[in-house]
Order: sequence, then structure tokens, then C-alpha cells
Amino acid sequence: MVVVAMRIGLLRGGGDCPGLNAVIRAAVRKGIWHYGDEFVGFMGGWRGVLDDATMPLDLQTTSGILQKGGTILRSSRTNVKKIPGGFEQCLGVLKKNKLDALIAMGGDDTQSISVELIKRGVPCVGVPKTIDNDLSGTDVCFGFDTAVTIATEAVDRLHSTSEAHSRVQVVEVMGRDAGWIAITAGIAGGADVVLCPEKPIDIDDVCRLLKARWDSGKKFALVVVAEGAKFPHLEGQFSVGDKVDSFGHVRLSGIGQALAEEIEKRTGYETRSVNLGHTQRGGTPTAFDRMLASRYGTAAIDLVHAGRFGRLVVLKGTEISDIPIEDAIAKTRTVGEDLFSVLKGLQPK
Ligand code: F6P
Repeated sequence: MVVVAMRIGLLRGGGDCPGLNAVIRAAVRKGIWHYGDEFVGFMGGWRGVLDDATMPLDLQTTSGILQKGGTILRSSRTNVKKIPGGFEQCLGVLKKNKLDALIAMGGDDTQSISVELIKRGVPCVGVPKTIDNDLSGTDVCFGFDTAVTIATEAVDRLHSTSEAHSRVQVVEVMGRDAGWIAITAGIAGGADVVLCPEKPIDIDDVCRLLKARWDSGKKFALVVVAEGAKFPHLEGQFSVGDKVDSFGHVRLSGIGQALAEEIEKRTGYETRSVNLGHTQRGGTPTAFDRMLASRYGTAAIDLVHAGRFGRLVVLKGTEISDIPIEDAIAKTRTVGEDLFSVLKGLQPK
């Protein structure tokens, strides 16, 4: 095999995610040590490409970051499609940086910009990043395991205080369109009720489950709800104001508190809510996420050198492979009936 050294741009868009630094480190190490590559890091996602804001990525600047949360490349939600002349500006900056390839780490919003750039001739490769775990075609996005671990620990901790006060404790977790964090942390943490965006909230059923728990002698309960879950009688999701980001998303928050009020009103049980919010995205990634990120980072470099552009590295079962980026963003990967039936099996009929 003839090894041709390349100049590769790296960027990450959207919300940050534990494991981002591990992907960057893995890609840079494999690229430099095995292909003789050079790297350019774009700061703040697509904003960095528009503004030509870069940092050098080499063995020094990526040393000691494996276990660090956040991202040395910083973050922004910048929608190039909304900026007049944005794509031309990106093309100019990418050309000026003499790049042979661009690797973008991100969820559907970030990858949708890659798809547009690919149409304009930019050789892009993608890495699936979102704690929501809702990209199609991959079993897991890096960052999800850390978020679930944090949420599960919170549910564990809330058990003792809820029991001490004989309360229902509602825990709001992230998950805009898919309830992966809610159902996984809910089942792993032994929650009595789990509510996901995939199914409208059946408040009668929620109260039935809580009453059954009280009747069984357990005078406390845990309810996990995804931020994107909806009441059937209300339009839309709970949000802080109606301001939207450049991809059209409102800032979700508040379903937990609304649900707690409704539960208390209907059952008479004292009910509190806590919103885990960005805690789920913060801090050190789990070993699983560091491992997955390292696999994705090295696989992305191999894809670049194989000239297989327009593809996203994915995990299928235990194997790393790749799929067209377009397929990954074509639809949201939601929680399936298999997991909902596990949940049902753990609850009274
Ligand atoms: O897209 C992932 C996510 O974690 C969503 O679950 C959440 O709604 C959103 O990011 C919040 O992001 P931020 O507040 O950082 O814009």
C-alpha cells in the first residue's frame, strides 16, 4: 500500500459531548504516526470554518486530553445554510487551508452541513456524536454511555432521599426526539415510570403505576422523563421561551416540573422534580466512550486514506463500519418496542 500523507481538517459541531477529545486525539495519533498527516482544528464547529479560526492539532496539543470532557475545539451551533454566501465562504477557507479532507464530529445538524459541502466537492468523513444517541445507522454514538452513567447515578442517589421523605421524585433527562437516555438510565436505575418522546404521556397510567407502588408498601417512587416527552393534550414540547437556535430548535426544559405538579395534584403524593440538564454532558467520559471514541477516530482516518468520502463511521454490534452520511441523518433513530417491552415487563401489569 502506498501511503500518501494528507492535510486534514477536524471540527465538531452542536452540543459538546464526553469523548470528543478522545476522537481528536485518536485521529491525530493515527494520522501522524501511521500516515504522516498534518491536521488543522477548526474552532467552534462550522463557525470556525466560516471565520477561518483554527488551532494546530499535533501530538503536543492533543496530549493529555483523552480523559477530559468538553472539547479543545470548543463549540457552537452554526447553521451555514442560514448564512448568505456561507458555503462559498467555507469553500474559500477550506481551500486556503489546503485541505485534502475534512472530518466532522456531530449529530444530524452538523452532518447536514457536511452533506451540503460534499455536494460542492469537499471530501468529508463523519463521526457520530450526540448524547441523545439518535443518529440512524449506528448502534451507539459516543457520549451516550457517559450521559447514561451520570443519569443512572443521579437516579440511584435520588432513591434514598425520596424514600426518606416518602416522595415521588421526577428526574428530567436530555433527549429531544428520542428517549435513549431516559429508558436506559430509567431501567438501569430502577425507576418506576419512564417517559420518552416516542410515546405521548399517559398520565392515568403514570398515576396507576405510582398508586400500585404505594399499595405494595413502598411509599416513594422515581419517575424518569425525557426533556422531549409530550402531554397528548398540549401542543409541542416544554421549552424555556420560544427562541430557536440556528437549526430551529427551542431550548427544551420544564416537562419534569409540569409532570411533578400533575402527579401531586392527581395522587396527593408529595412530588418533586430535578432537571439534570447539562450535568449529563459534563466531565470525564466513561471507559466505554473513550474506547468507542478511539475506535471512531482511528477508523475515520482510515476512511479518509481509503478515499471513502461522504461516509460516517458507525458501530454495528461490536464491529466498526461505515454508512453514507445521508442515511444517518435521513431519520431519527428512536427507542424501539423491544426496550419498551423490557420496561413494561418490569412494571405491574
Ligand atoms: O442535542 C443534544 C442535546 O443534548 C439535547 O438533548 C438537548 O436538547 C440539547 O443538546 C441542549 O443543548 P444546548 O443547551 O447546549 O444548546
